[in-house]
Parts: sequence; structure tokens; C-alpha cells
Amino acid sequence: MNVVLIGANGTLGRAVHTALSERGHMVVTASRTGADIHVDITDPESIRAMYEAVGAVDAVAVAAGSVPWRPLGELTVQDVRGGLEGKAVSQIELVRQGAARLPAHASFTLITGILAREPLLTGSVAALVNGAVEAFVRAAAIELPGRQRINAVSPTVFEESLGVYGDTFAGFDAVPVRRAANAYVKAVEGHRTGEIFLVE
Ligand SMILES: NC(=O)c1ccc[n+]([C@@H]2O[C@H](COP(=O)([O-])OP(=O)(O)OC[C@H]3O[C@@H](n4cnc5c(N)ncnc54)[C@H](OP(=O)(O)O)[C@@H]3O)[C@@H](O)[C@H]2O)c1
Repeated sequence: MNVVLIGANGTLGRAVHTALSERGHMVVTASRTGADIHVDITDPESIRAMYEAVGAVDAVAVAAGSVPWRPLGELTVQDVRGGLEGKAVSQIELVRQGAARLPAHASFTLITGILAREPLLTGSVAALVNGAVEAFVRAAAIELPGRQRINAVSPTVFEESLGVYGDTFAGFDAVPVRRAANAYVKAVEGHRTGEIFLVE
């Protein structure tokens, strides 16, 4: 299949790129820097240009998205809006535009995370955004045109990212990022839709 992978240079994206390539898929990478195609998924016009450039791909896989990590008492309304834009509205816009452009068999694989189900200090915006994306996935699955499918991968923290998050995830069982990448293979190659693939 031809897959456009957004965020292919990140910790998760590199692993997803490897896993999909090993399965024989043709992966076109997209991000703000250092990818085949430039895209800023917070900008709808940039998403439109990306779809123009990639043409009728069979699958869209997202391994990008950013949210602020701040104590509730320090959150600003800009933090909340920034988190929603950075991971929820951006992914929803990829689906909204892609649904109208991609073939009837196309699939969308979005990214959420464990904060949707386990609260953590400083993680309220991440929780909000992950929960929003998961609710969207379930609802969009029954409205997508043709046989288009949509799923989300919802991992716990990656072993490879523990250094970044310090003690934030103390007591959580981290997983190797390749396990999350495998969930993308399941989502892209499988037949399921409207599901949240937990990786923990
Ligand atoms: N790391 C973990 O333990 C973990 C666990 C569960 C879920 N997640 C989720 O997985 C996703 C990826 O995490 P990660 O740790 O792999 O992040 P990362 O290493 O920072 O990589 C993020 C990737 O996304 C791209 N990107 C960021 N913002 C973008 C934008 N607006 N438009 C287009 N591309 C953009 C980045 O490239 P450019 O900067 O060049 O655009 C980069 O390739 C996030 O949504 C995160 O919440 C991560």
C-alpha cells in the first residue's frame, strides 16, 4: 500500500516507518522538517497542499502531535487551545480533508495515548485531547464514505522516551516503541474500524 506517514522522524514515527516498510508498504514521509513532504498539520492549507502532493494514497498514519504538560493551576487558555490544535483539531482536519479525497478503501490511523484513561499530574490537556481524538474516531467510523476505516493507537509511555519524561511516568510499565508501531501495521493492513488499539 501507499502510506503517508506524518511525523515520521520522531520516536514513534521512525519505528512506524520501519515497521510499515518491512511489511512492503511504500511510505511517504511528511512533517514540518526533514521529510519527503512538508506539512504543518495545525494549518489546514498545509494539509490541503500535502494531499495535493501525495495523491490518492491508501492509508494516512499519524505519529505527530504535541500537547503542553503543565500543572492545572498554571494552565492558560492558550495552553488548552494549543493542545487541542496540536493533537486533536490537527488530526481531525487530516481526516476531514482526507475523507473527501482518498479512495473508498483508504484508512486513517491516528495517535492518542494512555492519558485518555490514566490521569497524571501535569497531564490534563493531554488527557482532554487524547479523549477527544478517541471519541472522534468512534463517531467518525460510522460516517466515513465508502469502506474507509479509522482507528487510533493509544500507547503508554515508550521505553525510548523515558529520558524525556523523567519521573512523570513513575510506576508505569513502559513499552518498546516497536510495539506501538506494530499496532499501526494492524490498523493499516486489517479490516477493523472505529477502534482504539491499546499498547501497554
Ligand atoms: N513518546 C511517548 O512515550 C508517547 C507515548 C504515547 C503517545 N505518544 C504520542 O505519540 C506522538 C508522537 O510522539 P513522539 O514521542 O514520537 O514525538 P516526537 O519524537 O517529538 O516526534 C514528533 C514528530 O511529529 C512531527 N510533528 C510535530 N508537530 C507537527 C506538526 N504540527 N505538523 C507536522 N508534523 C509535526 C515532528 O517533526 P517536525 O518537528 O519536523 O514537524 C516529528 O517527526 C505524540 O502525539 C505523542 O503524544 C507518545
